[in-house]
Amino acid sequence: MSEIRNLINITDFTVEEIDELIRVADDIVANHSAYENICAHKKLATLFFEPSTRTRLSFEAAMLELGGSVLGFSEAGSSSAAKGESVSDTIRTVGCYVDIIAMRHPKEGAPVVAAQRTTVPIINAGDGGHFHPTQTLTDLLTIKRKKGRLTNMTIGLCGDLKFGRTVHSLIEAMIRYEGIRFVLISPQELQVPDYVKDEMDNAGVEWKEVEKLEDAMGDLDILYMTRVQRERFFNEEDYVRLKDSYILDLEKLKAAKEDLTIMHPLPRVNEIAVEVDDDPRACYFFQALCGKHIRMALILYLLGIRREA
Ligand code: CP
Repeated sequence: MSEIRNLINITDFTVEEIDELIRVADDIVANHSAYENICAHKKLATLFFEPSTRTRLSFEAAMLELGGSVLGFSEAGSSSAAKGESVSDTIRTVGCYVDIIAMRHPKEGAPVVAAQRTTVPIINAGDGGHFHPTQTLTDLLTIKRKKGRLTNMTIGLCGDLKFGRTVHSLIEAMIRYEGIRFVLISPQELQVPDYVKDEMDNAGVEWKEVEKLEDAMGDLDILYMTRVQRERFFNEEDYVRLKDSYILDLEKLKAAKEDLTIMHPLPRVNEIAVEVDDDPRACYFFQALCGKHIRMALILYLLGIRREA
């Protein structure tokens, strides 16, 4: 029997495996009809104990476009978690019904526990402020499609770098590529956690911290904006003080490169003015589309399904 693969952290996959996922995601776009029924009779469960629009719906759209079926819940309150059922018992049960599970949970490490309780592949669709590896796959596909490479670029990460799990996963992924430099743009209270800084140091990548977006703008090839994560703050006062630390607008973009790629995992609140949406450098809705393509490739990979040549 082949080994069950899960995706808990982006580093569960090698660079070569990520290259293969990107290749398949592009093949899905180029040869869509070849994939229409490829997951017939396969079922995906989306178990979302926390709110989501893009991740849950793109997973569901991905499985439906592959000819499979989806079931699940979009809030803990509509599952037996509301009656006190443990994550372990929920996963063990759902594993009896489906072929693959994508789950989001507010507790860091919940997907690791889940993976120990079932024999179907578990995909971490976000665990607390920890990791969000399928967002990272989405980001890598977006960067590859926009820049044509994943190497030799300066990436500015801006906003809530403390609680922003997409940032942590993206750094972990990008430190494995040549010539990557990071500029971490955040207020002091929302800086990247030390363990992430250690990982950058251990990988020998160049990085620096700045507080003002204007101090970095002209150097960036990618600007990755993030939302201040209200749901992870201990008090509302701090959130209100920090929530509008950065608002990207057309005026600030005057200092940016012509081929800057502006990304955001979304949802946005105030951190990118709506006027930026029509700038050709704005890629965040394209990024959301890439999320569906890479999740299609991921489902196929974890189920061990390949299209016939
Ligand atoms: N990017 C992202 O995770 O969005 P959702 O919270 O809407 O899934």
